[in-house]
Formats: sequence, structure tokens, C-alpha cells
Amino acid sequence: MNLLLKIWRQKDGNSKGKLVDYPISDIEGDMSFLEMLDVLNQGLIEQGEEPVVFDHDCREGICGSCSLMINGEPHGPDRLITTCQLHMRRFRDGDTIVIEPFRATAFPVIKDLMVDRTAFDRIQQAGGYISVNTSGHTVDANAIPIEKEKADESFNAAACIGCGACVAACKNASAMLFTSAKVSQFALLPQGRVEATERVQNMVRQMDLEGFGNCTNTGACEVECPKGISLENIARMNREYLMATTKG
Ligand code: SF4
Ligand code: FES
Repeated sequence: MNLLLKIWRQKDGNSKGKLVDYPISDIEGDMSFLEMLDVLNQGLIEQGEEPVVFDHDCREGICGSCSLMINGEPHGPDRLITTCQLHMRRFRDGDTIVIEPFRATAFPVIKDLMVDRTAFDRIQQAGGYISVNTSGHTVDANAIPIEKEKADESFNAAACIGCGACVAACKNASAMLFTSAKVSQFALLPQGRVEATERVQNMVRQMDLEGFGNCTNTGACEVECPKGISLENIARMNREYLMATTKG
């Protein structure tokens, strides 16, 4: 395939960025999207030009770092996959592909296609853990019976990889789907109930402090989420928050 790539280039967070055209040829359908970018970068390096900076790590849908806006969709045109799982067979010879970073005030651009998503880390640090006494009297996790349905729901919420596609897809740049997944994975289990009141308040407070927008129930986040995180988590977080704040 021969393609025209229009890629966002931006020197750093303080510089203005712009879309730059890069024609690319001999791209095979079996290549992953990131391999296609590797080919582009190899060519740029050989010509003495600066390669395009993009984030990636596992390249198998686990780490959540390959955050690219492809033709206006986070992680590209397919559902329930990350950018690194997208293959070039999804495109046709002669296509133009626009590649931009995830855009949100709380995700400032570091360089080119790489954004700073440490706001998510700070939300998790604000309460996304449970305190366990490890003094030698720790109860074996299997000694606590948990309904299968609850365990499955918690596991589904824990599948969130923190990629940020939900934020990029949302017209308000809301982080409610991410935060609610992190709140839910604990709120559904007895081990997470102990600190549930503080956790939801701390995580929502941090989410607001980071500058993410409000949820207006558009549902774009759920559609674009590569891990199928459900909007039900947002409803659960709202209930948890209401209970926590009315408790005082
Ligand atoms: S909820 Fe989905 S889209 Fe949002 S960060 Fe988690 S995995 Fe990514
Ligand atoms: S590189 Fe890890 S999810 Fe894509």
C-alpha cells in the first residue's frame, strides 16, 4: 500500500504544533500500525530527520501507552483494540491517515504524538489501593467468600489499562470512565469496602483538580474504550460518591 500520513509534529509543550505530510510506500497489510510508524521513522532517521515521537511499550494491548488519535478516533477505526493491535489491512491503498495525540488540557503534549498522562497516576495514587495489614496476621484472600457475579464485575473494571481513550473521545475531556473503573474494582469487593468512603471522595477530588471535564452521559468513552469498560461503572461511582458525601 502507498499511503499519505498527516502527522502532528510539535517540538515540546510550549511550541505550536502542526500537521506534516509524510507519503509512505510499500506498507503491508500484516504490519501493525506501530510497525508502520517504525518504518516511517527508520526512513526519517536515514534522511537525517527527527523521527516522530510516539508512546508505546508492550505492543500487545496491555500497558495502555500507545495512545494515538487516528482519523479522529482514539486507537483508530476498530472497536475493543488498542493502537498497537490495529493492523494496516484495515486501510486501503491510497488512503490518507491523520495521526494526532490524545487531546485534553489534563494530557499536555510532551512531543509530537506523546502526551503526559501522569494525571491518571495521581488519580490512582489518591485512593486506588487498599490498606492491608501485613504484620503476619494477614487473612488469606481465598478465605473471604465473594459472589461470582461481583468478582466478575470487579475483574471487568480492573481490565482498564489507563490508556486515556475515554478522555480523548469525550467532548468534555472527562475522566469519569477511567476513575469509575478504578473506584469500582475495589468497591465491588469486601476488601475494598473498608476505605470505600474516603477512596471515592479522594479520587473524584483529584480528578477535578487535574482539570478533566464533567460527564454529560454522551457515552463516547464506552464506545472507544479498548477494554469494554461499561458506563455502569460511572453510575456506580456516582452512587458511591453520593453515599460517601451524605455520610459526611
Ligand atoms: S476506561 Fe477504557 S478508555 Fe478509559 S483509560 Fe480505561 S481502558 Fe482506556
Ligand atoms: S503498546 Fe501497550 S497497549 Fe499498546
